[in-house]
Amino acid sequence: MSKNEKTMGSAIEICHVGKKFPVAGGYFEALKDVHVTIPEGKFTILKGRSGSGKTTLLNIVGALDVPTSGKVLIGGREISSLGEKERDNLRRLRMGFVFQAVSLIPSLTAFQNVEFSLRLAGIRKGRRERVEECLKMVGLGNRMHHMPAEMSGGEQQRVAIARAIAHRPQILLADEPTAELDSAMAAQITRLLGELTRKEGVTILMTTHDTGLMDAGDMIIELENGNQVGVTMKEEAGTLAEEAAGGALAEEAAEKSVDETLAENVREILSRETSGKGGEPRA
Ligand SMILES: Nc1ncnc2c1ncn2[C@@H]1O[C@H](COP(=O)(O)OP(=O)(O)O)[C@@H](O)[C@H]1O
Ligand SMILES: [Mg+2]
Repeated sequence: MSKNEKTMGSAIEICHVGKKFPVAGGYFEALKDVHVTIPEGKFTILKGRSGSGKTTLLNIVGALDVPTSGKVLIGGREISSLGEKERDNLRRLRMGFVFQAVSLIPSLTAFQNVEFSLRLAGIRKGRRERVEECLKMVGLGNRMHHMPAEMSGGEQQRVAIARAIAHRPQILLADEPTAELDSAMAAQITRLLGELTRKEGVTILMTTHDTGLMDAGDMIIELENGNQVGVTMKEEAGTLAEEAAGGALAEEAAEKSVDETLAENVREILSRETSGKGGEPRA
């Protein structure tokens, strides 16, 4: 489905999802009746302590694992009923993934790493422009031809984000993408993800155990021992006004402020990094 065909509404419907893992002498219930709808084009944060079930749920949403009970719908289609090839296509074409441990290809530059994901998605036209656009969006316009080893942890994670959005996925799944970064860089990356939802229209679901990062989320889902214990929708004036107005003028105004905020963030990140404080340490 192309961007133009997609309808506004819910991007991900998690319907009474449960997950039991077989363990010695029985099973372990990692998710218990999680039931929540994630809106399209918003930044949703899945929070909870280590072991609360975040990765398990993200893997199910990303069609990397299947639930033991319940179902997940993406764009209205149940994903567990898809065949292996369809699930592959769904992941490759409509989803982007960012993980805690940055997994860039070490022998390729930032540019080549991002370009590689476009190759995988079978995109040929306008590839160079799109790679440059994405690297600029994450504030790495001046690091395009650096090797991963020549970049800080924060920069590498931003390349990974650029790579994950380059093929214009509908959904970006990020599993603890900030866990290996210092707290200031973690906040910057989180804010950057929030802005990417507005700039690219991508739906983002990010997990974190860091309670200091909630401000950037449009919606917060909280897990505790596999139970969904809270769903908070942020009543953000800007977002709601934008939705309510829906007109070209409102869109244009919103676009401008997103660009400005992005530019501000990028300047801040760069100034931190050139002063030698950014992006470190990697765990
Ligand atoms: N393959 C597995 N087999 C058994 N237990 C598992 C498996 N994967 C995860 N778990 C358990 O499920 C719980 C939730 O794990 P996880 O989703 O990784 O939590 P989180 O990402 O919130 O730290 C943990 O207690 C973990 O030990
Ligand atoms: Mg996890």
